[in-house]
Amino acid sequence: MKLKQIELKNFRNYEDLKLDFHPNLNIFLGQNAQGKTNILEAIHFLALTRSHRTSHDKELICWSGQEMKVSGLVEKAHVNVPLEVQLSSKGRIAKANHLKENRLADYIGQLKILMFAPENLELVKGSPATRRRFMDIELGQIHAVYLYDSMRYNRALKERNAYLKFDQAKIDKNFLTVLDEQLAEHGNKIMFERKTFIEKLEIHAKKIHEQLTHGLETLKITYNQNVKTDFSKELLSRQDHDIFRHQTTVGPHRDDLQFFINEINVADFGSQGQQRTVALSIKLAEIDLIFEETGEYPILLLDDVMSELDNHRQLDLIETSLGKTQTFITTTTLDHLKNLPENLSIFHVTDGTIEKEKE
Ligand SMILES: Nc1ncnc2c1ncn2[C@@H]1O[C@H](COP(=O)(O)OP(=O)(O)OP(=O)(O)O)[C@@H](O)[C@H]1O
Ligand SMILES: [Mg+2]
Repeated sequence: MKLKQIELKNFRNYEDLKLDFHPNLNIFLGQNAQGKTNILEAIHFLALTRSHRTSHDKELICWSGQEMKVSGLVEKAHVNVPLEVQLSSKGRIAKANHLKENRLADYIGQLKILMFAPENLELVKGSPATRRRFMDIELGQIHAVYLYDSMRYNRALKERNAYLKFDQAKIDKNFLTVLDEQLAEHGNKIMFERKTFIEKLEIHAKKIHEQLTHGLETLKITYNQNVKTDFSKELLSRQDHDIFRHQTTVGPHRDDLQFFINEINVADFGSQGQQRTVALSIKLAEIDLIFEETGEYPILLLDDVMSELDNHRQLDLIETSLGKTQTFITTTTLDHLKNLPENLSIFHVTDGTIEKEKE
């Protein structure tokens, strides 16, 4: 899978920009605050219809504009697929092959990406919601059906929660049980997918982590499923409790992940360096996992990570991946990138303008 071209209209500090990309490696070079990350963010937005660093879509629109658009051309199996995501006061519109996709699940997955960014550390240190979002995004790219199930689950959850807001006396338990059944049906599918995904991810990540740490550290990932036995039964047994609390207190919307190094919880007791290595192992593991599951390598977006890597093994591993898939790197200096392949494009980024140095 390759991203051949991208066009930005009023995206962040780019009013009107069109770029042709190199099939192997693209480097965005420039000082701080010039617009390097904005380019990767635009690619992320094109792939997933959302930014990796903000949930406030408005921030993505150029200050002088009212709406924005990112479009691009993706090549897979020698077929070109035009993609487009537009954001205006009417909301967001995603198009593939010039056709509007009404369901996000039909759109996502056309352009598969893997972003390495300083924000990745949040996967280990952040809130459970961050880790659920991680599972949702990554699984959504791999299995479109997961996105359907998770949308249906969220809809059913919203409905059940809205019903629980009613006066206690007005709640009909038979009706609540009907809502429980819907929730359990979609929830069970989500939990099954998450469990399988984490098991596979762990196998790859463990191997990579061992390499990164010269065999000193053993990584373990556990899926902390909130439902312990049978989802329907747990919902039923908690009906009174949920009515009292006015919310659904059990289900995959309360799942979490935990990471252990040599049996020690990394979020609580890991050093900053260990936490970073865990985040990196997981990301690198996903390259192979996505290929295994979909037959396609995702494109790699590396935001400023080269300067953060603290040992040669990390660099080596990233450079190994460079051969497999199209890669986009932002950096303020080329110093860390010693073994660059011969054929690449370098883009100089200065205050929202971009100049291509060479092919
Ligand atoms: N909505 C917006 N409209 C116009 N300009 C914006 C908008 N949002 C951010 N910017 C500008 O974009 C620039 C930041 O871009 P970006 O984050 O891509 O920088 P960068 O080159 O990655 O820098 P660093 O090396 O520090 O990470 C800033 O100058 C900021 O003012
Ligand atoms: Mg940046």
